[in-house]
Amino acid sequence: MSHVGIIGTGSYLPEHIMTNDDLSNFLDTSDEWIRTRTGIRERRISTDMTTSDLAYEAGVRALENSGLKSEDIDLIICATITPDYFMPSCACIVQDRLGAINAAAFDLVAACTGMIYGMVTAEQFIKSGMYENVLVIGSETLSKVLDWEDRSSCVLFGDGAGAVVMSKSRDGGKILTSKLESDGSKYNLLTCSAIPLQNPYVNIDNSKEAKIEMLRQPKIKMFGQEVFKYAVRTITDNINYILNKAKLTKEDITYIIPHQANQRIIEQASKSCKIPIDKFFMNLDRYGNTSAASVGIALDELLSSGQLKRKDRIILVGFGGGMTSGSILLEWS
Ligand code: ACO
Repeated sequence: MSHVGIIGTGSYLPEHIMTNDDLSNFLDTSDEWIRTRTGIRERRISTDMTTSDLAYEAGVRALENSGLKSEDIDLIICATITPDYFMPSCACIVQDRLGAINAAAFDLVAACTGMIYGMVTAEQFIKSGMYENVLVIGSETLSKVLDWEDRSSCVLFGDGAGAVVMSKSRDGGKILTSKLESDGSKYNLLTCSAIPLQNPYVNIDNSKEAKIEMLRQPKIKMFGQEVFKYAVRTITDNINYILNKAKLTKEDITYIIPHQANQRIIEQASKSCKIPIDKFFMNLDRYGNTSAASVGIALDELLSSGQLKRKDRIILVGFGGGMTSGSILLEWS
């Protein structure tokens, strides 16, 4: 059968820009520290839009770009760790707003690897013949789950959404090969808690600590240095694996779009794969780490820049909480 490919992309970033200097107004940090340790200069923070609002805006743009109508979409997958509700899914809210009346819709959690997990899932549905056209969206309002007193984590993240429409490939980027991986033994390296167990059978402990625990808000916690090492290793392993599987060499690759977490992670990965840093697309200086949205936003920006030529090959590679990782090899036609 023909390849599965990307026939449209879109992205949306909230308007409000938060600079490193803005952060240093209320945190013991500095523009110099954040820039040199991460490469991030500023990020977008949503002041009034929810995750589904951002997802909708990115989805509309991807749909317009694909030339399809909302009724043509058979499935909507939304990757997010910051949904508006536990129920309904972000994907169902987007379905309603798009008027995608013929679509099934669900959310998927793979943290910062979410866009890649979503795209590989879509690829399988299209390959199997179950669906023809799938809208995959990565959308996050991470700003609502950041600990704004923890300078080692809150400076890293931002809000945004990226989207792709996938279909049996005509023009656009066709998927040559892909890979997904998880390592649950490292689940505690990067966490964002949900609500604790509470029902009539749970022992009520009236201690102050227990009450604080009951009121606990979800917040991102991270073991930064461990995540750093995991990230460098998995980017390297994924790139090597996917090149091997496709029987290609690194010279055959035009661009690599890594999850936009930290410039130093990407520089280390570039050294360890022995692939020049200028092949790695980066926009994290402007948006920080937008988790599930980052790869979709970066792909949309690369395509809009008009830099891609026919037969260019791109690797998308991500890593994130879970821990999860994954990669996709695309060829442009
Ligand atoms: N401003 C100023 N000082 C800071 C800040 C800050 N924002 N954050 C930490 N520091 C201090 C620390 O308190 C520490 O001070 P101390 O020596 O007095 O104790 C010092 O800087 C060094 O701290 P380290 O944690 O050793 O700094 P490191 O060089 O490892 O950088 C960072 C920290 C940027 C978090 C790094 O570990 C990292 O990038 N890790 C990867 C994490 C990441 O990218 N996570 C998100 C991606 S994961 C995902 O997307 C799923």
